[in-house]
Amino acid sequence: MKFFVDTASLDQIQEANDLGILDGVTTNPSLMAKEGITGQDNIYKHYQTIADMVDGDVSAEVIATDFEGIVEEGKRLADIAPNIVVKVPMIKDGVKALSYFRDNGIRTNCTLVFSAGQAILAAKAGATYLSPFIGRIDDINWDGMGLIGQIAEIYAIQGYETEILAASIRSSKHIVEAAQAGADVFTCPLSAAMGLLKHPLTDIGLEKFLADHRKGNS
Ligand code: G3P
Repeated sequence: MKFFVDTASLDQIQEANDLGILDGVTTNPSLMAKEGITGQDNIYKHYQTIADMVDGDVSAEVIATDFEGIVEEGKRLADIAPNIVVKVPMIKDGVKALSYFRDNGIRTNCTLVFSAGQAILAAKAGATYLSPFIGRIDDINWDGMGLIGQIAEIYAIQGYETEILAASIRSSKHIVEAAQAGADVFTCPLSAAMGLLKHPLTDIGLEKFLADHRKGNS
């Protein structure tokens, strides 16, 4: 399972990259705004910086919502670096643009996915990645993780090659459950991924090993 960090923060990306387990980065317009990156030139420069920092895929989201606009913006984003993946919303013109990008060798991440039906459309349109938003589904008391399992089953039965990128992950529990449900990738803030480290028995065991070592060497 691949690990993408879901942020536009260069510090967080560097910290995740330094761990040696980072496979890519996802961003969205809200995450860019959170870092104070505004204006198209600055946003594109920021994508360039991120793409240079990491070996893996970097999702850069289009703002346009019409086919021509998505295609034009997607081509410009894809030209920034070979590891840029164009993030396209799950709307009718987005599906058309996903097909266009597939036919023209541009890799994509279909975002804002909340149902298995949307996942089928994105796979048929040749999306490279599919981003179901687990946390936001849970927020409205539906079953985010159930959707990951459902999509994984459908993709396996149908032989779709689109990778399931579990997004809107809020906790380490989400990560483990997404892995079990068949997601190919998880993307989350670094803090959620670091939650995977935590276990009280590890802390207690380490404390005892170090205490015994100190005793033996005093
Ligand atoms: O990858 C999508 C993600 O950024 C959305 O997360 O927490 O805003 O629902 P969240």
